[in-house]
Amino acid sequence: MTDTRKLSQAFEHTFQRAPEVVVHAPGRVNLIGEHTDYNEGFVFPAAINFGTDIAAARRSDHTISLLALDYSGSTSHFNLDDIQFDRAQPWSNYVRGVLKILAEKHDFQGMDMAITGNVPQGAGLSSSASLEMAVLKAAASLYNLPLNGVDAALIGQRAENEFVGCSCGIMDQLISALGKAGNALLLDCQSLNYEYHPIDPDYQIVIVNSNVKRGLVDSEYNLRREQCEEAASLLGVGSLRAATMDQLLANRERLSDPVFRRARHIISENERTLDMGRALENSDYRQVSQLMADSHRSMREDFEITVEPVDSLVAIIDEVLGDRGGVRMTGGGFGGCVVALVPRDLVGAVGHAVSTEYQARTGLRESLYICTAEQGAFSETT
Ligand code: GLA
Repeated sequence: MTDTRKLSQAFEHTFQRAPEVVVHAPGRVNLIGEHTDYNEGFVFPAAINFGTDIAAARRSDHTISLLALDYSGSTSHFNLDDIQFDRAQPWSNYVRGVLKILAEKHDFQGMDMAITGNVPQGAGLSSSASLEMAVLKAAASLYNLPLNGVDAALIGQRAENEFVGCSCGIMDQLISALGKAGNALLLDCQSLNYEYHPIDPDYQIVIVNSNVKRGLVDSEYNLRREQCEEAASLLGVGSLRAATMDQLLANRERLSDPVFRRARHIISENERTLDMGRALENSDYRQVSQLMADSHRSMREDFEITVEPVDSLVAIIDEVLGDRGGVRMTGGGFGGCVVALVPRDLVGAVGHAVSTEYQARTGLRESLYICTAEQGAFSETT
């Protein structure tokens, strides 16, 4: 949690009145199921104890006035009747995008908003989805809009796809909206049905940021998506969710080698994600360990979205965990973070191994976050 008192004070200082609401939306970590969301498959994320906070109040005109505490107090203003993309203030486009789409179906007036957050940016922990969900939560609270978590997530995804220009799936927004404290969420991205799975209290979610500067993320991400669509079309299915491994192998000659491997990742990752639900239910950590290791290998060899420092982090942590816990890269790839499910008695040893070996192997310094699974912005209070 960030310091919301400081946020309210900044709001008052800038807008000369008290905020009417202060809302929060979390970032996320994905335990398994990577790049499966836009293939209508399965994902298994948890909302985390890092997120975006917004202090907000209504205005009676159609103006949105934003103050971004984390960008040296920079401001952005726009009219709800004419929302344009802003190249000069890229952070504001997530706000502009969701409000533009929200306004298609909902009635609301202007707003003053002060925004701050502590999700590390560009680390694959969904700082942008948490900003989008916080904006929608603020608007819904101020104007009493009938918006549930799934509606909000779909608006956030459309804002990314149609306004910001990233062809992402639904995972990040949905978990930021609907996370549940102490639980991960197994989501079917085709039906949008989901179920919660408690995280074993004897285990800790540990996230380690490789601090690799991510490059080419959007173009590589969109290319993966195109390759998956090509595979689905060559296999004659609407999405790779509907394809089986037998079907893929029987058609191997018709697919180029990269397209074949992309499809093999998605089909096998969907199976692993469902298996993960069962393994966690049975507290079968040997199986969890295997599934996360297989997922990482598949992302490295078949989907080709990992980078060498991230592979090193996984290897270092895996040596400590053995089959008592699991570790893999999490998020879109090309840098970012690894996620580990670590028995509490090994958390110190994991931290020690990473701090002594990662820099020596890669020349980079990691950041380590001990995480808890948190409530989403639109979840019912539990
Ligand atoms: C990014 C996207 C998500 C998902 C992941 C990969 O976080 O925003 O929709 O595709 O990458 O699993």
